[in-house]
Amino acid sequence: MPFIELSSDDTHFSVALPTPFTDQKPGTSGLRKSTKKFQEPHYLESFVEAIFQILPGVQDGVLIVGGDGRFGNRNAIDVILRMAAAHRVKKVITTVDGILSTPAASHLIRTHKAVGGIILSASHNSGGLDGDFGVKLNGPNGGPASEALTNQIYSCTKTLERYHIIKNDPICLNEPGNFFIKSMYVEVIDGIDGYIDLMQQIFDFDRISSLLTNDFLIAFDALNAVTGPYAKKLLEEILGSRPGTVRNGIPLEDFGGCHPDPNLTYAKDLADLLLNGQEYSFGAACDGDGDRNMILGRNCFVNPSDSLAVLTANSSCVPAYSEGLLGVARSMPTSAAVDVVAKDLGINCFETPTGWKFFGNLLDSGQITICGEESFGTGSNHIREKDGLWAVLFWLQILAEKKCSVKDLMMQHWSRFGRHYYSRHDYESISSEIAQDLYGNVELRLPSLIGKPFAGQNVSHADNFIYKDSVDSSITTNQGLRILLDDGSRVIMRLSGTGTQGATLRVYLESYVSSNNDLNQDPQIALSQLIESIDLFAEITKRTGMTRPTVIT
Ligand code: G1P
Ligand code: ZN
Repeated sequence: MPFIELSSDDTHFSVALPTPFTDQKPGTSGLRKSTKKFQEPHYLESFVEAIFQILPGVQDGVLIVGGDGRFGNRNAIDVILRMAAAHRVKKVITTVDGILSTPAASHLIRTHKAVGGIILSASHNSGGLDGDFGVKLNGPNGGPASEALTNQIYSCTKTLERYHIIKNDPICLNEPGNFFIKSMYVEVIDGIDGYIDLMQQIFDFDRISSLLTNDFLIAFDALNAVTGPYAKKLLEEILGSRPGTVRNGIPLEDFGGCHPDPNLTYAKDLADLLLNGQEYSFGAACDGDGDRNMILGRNCFVNPSDSLAVLTANSSCVPAYSEGLLGVARSMPTSAAVDVVAKDLGINCFETPTGWKFFGNLLDSGQITICGEESFGTGSNHIREKDGLWAVLFWLQILAEKKCSVKDLMMQHWSRFGRHYYSRHDYESISSEIAQDLYGNVELRLPSLIGKPFAGQNVSHADNFIYKDSVDSSITTNQGLRILLDDGSRVIMRLSGTGTQGATLRVYLESYVSSNNDLNQDPQIALSQLIESIDLFAEITKRTGMTRPTVIT
């Protein structure tokens, strides 16, 4: 049992920890673990203490706190408020029912000049007692905390001996209100309105509205997670889409048992509606905390790498971007579809490691306007997080302008720029040891591939991706194994940094065809040679016993 001391008065506790805590992965901007782990005594408190000890400006600063509504959200807000008061934070802004999407949190941090924000979410991981919970720290620019800061927090967790907390009854989050905990001011605000105002500044709502009220039926699946109330207000109340447009629109603590990850596997109902039905012209879904998006048209799935390219190519349709883009960026495993568009527009295209935080410096230094990842993340310089509903509105704005179907827009795009056939294969819940051995073995053998045939081509380059940040010159190593072929095809392998059960191996496959080739193939067929070759080379089936990936995107 930890030893509890009373400090200066009988409401401020300094709790000594029996053993030093550490579970956070170095280099990650938060802690994501099973809900049960977070229920262990002092677990949440220990990580929050490290944040309060390290985050600059905590004392007398403003802090934003909220989450995606999963089990544990309200309790965590209560604990963080009481710990913030013990650390003499000046003001905490939190939200009604604790509901705050990640993009809305990023916006609040920026508009209130907060020292940072604590977002309670495990993003696209399942929730509830048997699911996951997470605590993520964002910095004063509104984006995920920098690597330097998270490494300091990590070091702090390893030597932590005690944490500080105030005794106080939970404050009421049922409606907007103002409270004090000791001398700390707590403001409970609506977490939706500010975000909607921001969207109104970026897009032409009248134009989108005329599309949606004109027989253009759309379906949005919030997957019982945080975007429900945002999407209902935006799409149904303000833009006038048919009532019922938003499905699974009430945030539930366990997301109704579903996995709030907008892809063809976990948003299958929506995918069936669009890919096998004729009623809807457009479909979209967002993840647990609202930063990811999946876009579907009638009989058409839009690959996220293509989505980034289409948004870039058509950015002049959106008022906020009508004067041109500063530049664009994509994560390394994202296909080079956007590179081709950037070249055409005469703007720079940056290649960063996986993870949104790497876009932060490029956005802050005014080098890029739009950026995205293959993992259903797209965003712009309006905030410092990816933004699911922003991407949905962007697509609707383009469709309102172009007056064509999603499928036609994709065909027009490929006919102009060529097509990057692309797929990601995820092998989930592999034992960590097997995954590490497999990965290590591939890395060792990469140099032997250079100049040799692979999938009917020649290997021009093979390495473990290293990134040098052009703004602060920091170097990040070990960001994924790359096999680059003469014709521009690529195979990338990474081990996930966000999974919580065993290891997840991600294999990214890409091959480019110019516009005078067959643009209408099934990607799995177009990529079959690459798929076969990487399985043989990396011994995926042999080492994991898995004959197919868990998720194919
Ligand atoms: C995954 C995605 C990555 C994204 C991250 C957070 O990370 O692949 O693009 O930034 O989730 O949403 P991974 O599990 O691959 O480390
Ligand atoms: Zn997310």
